Amino acid sequence: MAVPLKIEELQKGLGTRRLGKRIHCFPELDSTNVYAYKRAQEGGEEGEVVIAESQTRGKGRMGRNWVSPPCLNLYLSAILRPNLPPIQAPQITLMSAVALAETVQSFIPSAPEIKWPNDIIVGGKKIAGILTESSCEPDRILFVILGIGVNLNYPRELMPETIRESATSIMILTQKPVDRTDFTRRLIQNLDRCYGDLEDKGFSFVARRWEGFFRLRGKRVRVEMMDQPIIGKAMGIDGDGALILEDEEGTLKKIVAGDVIPVDP
Ligand code: BTN
Repeated sequence: MAVPLKIEELQKGLGTRRLGKRIHCFPELDSTNVYAYKRAQEGGEEGEVVIAESQTRGKGRMGRNWVSPPCLNLYLSAILRPNLPPIQAPQITLMSAVALAETVQSFIPSAPEIKWPNDIIVGGKKIAGILTESSCEPDRILFVILGIGVNLNYPRELMPETIRESATSIMILTQKPVDRTDFTRRLIQNLDRCYGDLEDKGFSFVARRWEGFFRLRGKRVRVEMMDQPIIGKAMGIDGDGALILEDEEGTLKKIVAGDVIPVDP
């Protein structure tokens, strides 16, 4: 029987500076991002965390749906109020991808990789994703909602066919159920630390760790955006967290959104 996450247990020994001082847990929400966004608009504080056991309208990137069955996985959103100009908002996504990849890594035998900007992949299959949504004024970010979905105890047979071949979970990789409280607590701690690193040591410090999880450097990729796909060589990320692509004419292009697909297997 799956046991719901409990606020007191998550906060036991948490020891964070900002994240998780206040945690809200719900049996069901439409989307933790939607709930956290409303809270932030109403004055919700930096570091507040919203968790739901299931989501009826979980949101993925690029308008996709995030499948969110009850009590198996983690669906979490955090309110952040970084002191950054809007152009640097992608730094928050990349910082979170590092914290998430480090957390996943500590629970599985093999190394995860980050697929730019924010998918966590193990053995070619997606295990976790990040959706950040911000509210900005022209020169400052008012808040960022950092939404994270992680497949924890998701058995293959319960996955819808649409994701069964492309997704995995910690339980599938380790062949035993993961303690969801332990995972969630460690994720909140890692996010708190990486967020502090971004603030105190700067983006280049976080970017180096991000690059350590990025396996597509120097590889040919296709970037699918809303309009035309672009093919080129992935060169890494720039100071704002954009992907730098060298196109077939040798011109460097800055990619700020899209899906990156390796061209050569
Ligand atoms: C992706 O497409 O990879 C991003 C998925 C993000 C899913 C999480 S689950 C918690 C939070 N609430 C949502 O509605 N979406 C994010």
